[in-house]
Amino acid sequence: MKIKTVSNETIHIQSGGKDKQTTLFLRLLIRIKTENIMAYTIAFFGTKPYDEASFNDKNKEFGFEFRYYKGHLNKNNVLLTQGVDAVCIFVNDTADAEVIHAMAANGVKLLALRCAGFNNVDLNAAATAGITVVRVPAYSPYAVAEYTVALMLSLNRKIPRASWRTKDGNFSLHGLMGFDMHGKTAGIIGTGKIAKILIHILKGFGMNILAYDLYPDYNFAREEQIVYTSLDELYHSSDIISLHCPLTEATKYLINDYSISKMKDGVMIINTGRGQLIHTNALIEGLKNKKIGSAGLDWMCTRKKANISTKTSPTASSTTTCLPVCSHLTM
Ligand SMILES: NC(=O)c1ccc[n+]([C@@H]2O[C@H](COP(=O)([O-])OP(=O)(O)OC[C@H]3O[C@@H](n4cnc5c(N)ncnc54)[C@H](O)[C@@H]3O)[C@@H](O)[C@H]2O)c1
Repeated sequence: MKIKTVSNETIHIQSGGKDKQTTLFLRLLIRIKTENIMAYTIAFFGTKPYDEASFNDKNKEFGFEFRYYKGHLNKNNVLLTQGVDAVCIFVNDTADAEVIHAMAANGVKLLALRCAGFNNVDLNAAATAGITVVRVPAYSPYAVAEYTVALMLSLNRKIPRASWRTKDGNFSLHGLMGFDMHGKTAGIIGTGKIAKILIHILKGFGMNILAYDLYPDYNFAREEQIVYTSLDELYHSSDIISLHCPLTEATKYLINDYSISKMKDGVMIINTGRGQLIHTNALIEGLKNKKIGSAGLDWMCTRKKANISTKTSPTASSTTTCLPVCSHLTM
């Protein structure tokens, strides 16, 4: 497996054991240590008990000094990086220019993301400050693609609802009717590593695929017999829409009131990309008025934890938090 620095240097790392992601990071840091970049003390932000357990376990092989912080990295707690060589963050930490410069002043040399997306990091600021940024470029795209299919099948065949019912001794089939995915159209936005695997699986179901990407891969389209099209056509013709593009300025709230209005009635929306690809309140409105038939989300964005407003206009001052909806990662 390989880890890619954001400056595009690829570092090849052999990994084994049951928690490869953890091993990968620690081996990367050993490599950096042996290259005299001196990563000895590592501060982890936004950690959960399972992060600590797996990193502590793997660290028996490495002997780094770890400092764990439950809070997300931001300008108010960046002073905790004083005397730290490397900082490890996840999707809801903030590494904007202010935080990056404060980290550099504190002596941080490496920022390691334990996730694929890096929209929360100001890469220009990191380059200027001399902080190396690394991320996980692809941790098993099969896991995410297969999980995406699991969401589709769960929604279509109403598996969670059937499960709750039978646990209550209710064996009624009423309302559990699904549809044949065979012959239906899936609209795939972003056709990178994950989406290509997903498309291959969906082709096996006999689905038609409409795809949209800023950089279409026409060789892949020929091989899989899929069609690249405009976003409008994809919205208009798809029975299932699945999001696999990165979160950028261009894709933030891609799924909003306006794009939803162009979709088929009863469309299924799946998002295993970043939560902010979807405007949560627009999604809720769509579900309530039945324009959207169902939605399967890996991440959901809310302005205030556990308090999702049904109003569609977010206030500029509120902060967005992304909440994991389910856990699916396997290595
Ligand atoms: N749920 C998870 O656990 C998980 C894990 C890994 C990645 N992800 C998310 O999935 C996304 C895709 O991952 P990947 O490994 O397939 O990435 P990738 O880089 O291989 O593919 C991304 C694709 O999106 C395309 N793209 C870029 N900007 C676009 C735009 N504005 N409109 C349409 N397409 C655009 C790119 O050209 C590329 O083909 C990541 O950005 C990440 O946010 C989620």
